[in-house]
Amino acid sequence: MSHPFTVSLVSWHDGEPLLKSIREAVFIREQGVPADLEWDGLDESCRHALALSHSGDAIGCGRMFANGHIGRISVLPQWRKQKAGTAIVEALLDYARAHDYIQVDVDAQTHAVPFYHSFGFVEHGEVFMDAGLPHIKMTLKL
Ligand SMILES: CC(C)(COP(=O)(O)OP(=O)(O)OC[C@H]1O[C@@H](n2cnc3c(N)ncnc32)[C@H](O)[C@@H]1OP(=O)(O)O)[C@@H](O)C(=O)NCCC(=O)NCCS
Repeated sequence: MSHPFTVSLVSWHDGEPLLKSIREAVFIREQGVPADLEWDGLDESCRHALALSHSGDAIGCGRMFANGHIGRISVLPQWRKQKAGTAIVEALLDYARAHDYIQVDVDAQTHAVPFYHSFGFVEHGEVFMDAGLPHIKMTLKL
């Protein structure tokens, strides 16, 4: 099935303004994450997935560390439930498989647990608070 968006992997250097626009809208303005927690200084060390609409607007993103940890998975509200989040995570999982990672893990916001289940992630441990939001660790063996 074709989607009204494309997802590509970008460096922070190349994608910064567009990646920032999505995360500011979703995490800082919508979810109330403090800006100093959102901008944790770790983005330059990550690969980033960026979803663009066919008209070129940035609609979603996510990041992956070299150790297989993913995070900051986000889709603008008006673009949700159209599989953009799935395409972003799949792009990161493709990268992980291509680089022989043995597993990928995420600190999932608890509301997003069913989203990560759809890829086969399994939760473990206790719910914990981060940036004022409940999270749980989830892992996908590759
Ligand atoms: C979580 C998020 C990235 C999902 O993006 P999306 O593009 O809407 O997701 P998809 O359309 O690819 O959804 C795929 C599946 O995940 C599940 N899912 C997605 N969002 C869900 C939600 N909020 N609650 C429960 N299940 C959800 C559904 O099973 C869905 O399948 P369906 O469409 O057949 O029902 C998006 O809701 C978002 O940006 N939320 C705010 C930021 C956030 O909380 N990010 C997660 C940080 S850990």
